[in-house]
Amino acid sequence: MPIKLMCIAGARPNFMKLAPLLALLRRNPAFSAILVHTGQHYDEKMSGQFFTDLGLPMPDFNLEVGSGSHAQQTAEIMKRFEPVVLAEKPDAVLVVGDVNSSMACALVASKLQIPVIHVEAGLRSFDRAMPEEINRVVTDAIADVLLVTEESGRLNLRAEGVPPERIHLVGNIMIDSLRLHVEKARHSGILMRLGVNGEPFGLVTLHRPSNVDEPGQLTEIMEALSSIAAEVPLYFPVHPRTRARLDPLRFGAGPMRLIDPLGYLDFLCLMSHSSIVLTDSGGIQEETTVLGIPCLTLRNNTERPVTVEEGTNIVAGNSQDTILAAWEQMKNAPKRGRIPQYWDGHAAQRCISVLQSYFCVKEELN
Ligand code: UD1
Repeated sequence: MPIKLMCIAGARPNFMKLAPLLALLRRNPAFSAILVHTGQHYDEKMSGQFFTDLGLPMPDFNLEVGSGSHAQQTAEIMKRFEPVVLAEKPDAVLVVGDVNSSMACALVASKLQIPVIHVEAGLRSFDRAMPEEINRVVTDAIADVLLVTEESGRLNLRAEGVPPERIHLVGNIMIDSLRLHVEKARHSGILMRLGVNGEPFGLVTLHRPSNVDEPGQLTEIMEALSSIAAEVPLYFPVHPRTRARLDPLRFGAGPMRLIDPLGYLDFLCLMSHSSIVLTDSGGIQEETTVLGIPCLTLRNNTERPVTVEEGTNIVAGNSQDTILAAWEQMKNAPKRGRIPQYWDGHAAQRCISVLQSYFCVKEELN
């Protein structure tokens, strides 16, 4: 019997991480992969387009949970996921990243004594005000197999007492997706649609609650971005969370162009042609490091230190002064960086190798 692996996707950053893994799992007769979409992100721009762009199979189950407070969303995912697990009886549940869906499904599986595999384990910002940090800590505490993207992940898990045999440095599967799609993405029509004419431009994304939920903080960042936009035009695909708070502030006239969220290929195209990226996203810090594009992270910390130590990332803070200081620093000496170990397009294959040996070992023990 093939090993039945239930893979969870919930929010935008999950789709590019699951796509390379699912493609390999579905070609491997040792595994039978089931895709569950929790519906944490649900509209075409945040979810549907990614299935098309990445060639993801349609989900076998869609829990359609939608939005809500953290407690409501997490609870709703757990309530709707449990009957699916009970009916399907998977051999393991695989979650990626740090979104509410990852933690909720890991909890359900763990309480039903089904092994949990966590891809992108061990990352820590050490900032518990960040909802994702809570999700990371909880998920890692109950995971049975912890697959890490960078050495800091292994060290953090060891410091938290996770036994070394559970931790595997496999590299970055999101970079597998990037490497697979970057050439195709370069031919997306987005540059033409936006009227990009070969002049240098910057790209902005912003959605962290700590940056966008409080109007004073959001204004602080937007003021800094406006100053930068006076020097280099900025394109800003606006996340729905940010859009809901930004409109009344009336930013976006002139050289900063606010646009709708983009699909994977369009975003990758715009990013790979940009001169600088300003973001509070986790994944984009990693993608810019691989593309060799300078990145200013508009936060006070990062859970991905390798992007600073080896890559092109500068943690710029989220006040006007620190952002503009980092901008000057980047202009004078843009970071080039190097590509971290195992961010080579073969991380999904390494995940599969770990899973194969994990299940073989388990069979022998039984
Ligand atoms: C979530 C993740 C975050 C990830 C981000 C990427 C958690 C705790 N946070 O944050 O780690 O980096 O996704 O996007 O899991 N909305 C839409 N359409 C959608 C989805 C959401 O309009 O398809 C709206 C919701 O109604 C809500 C807002 O966007 O008002 C935020 O969505 P939510 O799922 O709460 O979290 P994100 O901020 O997207």
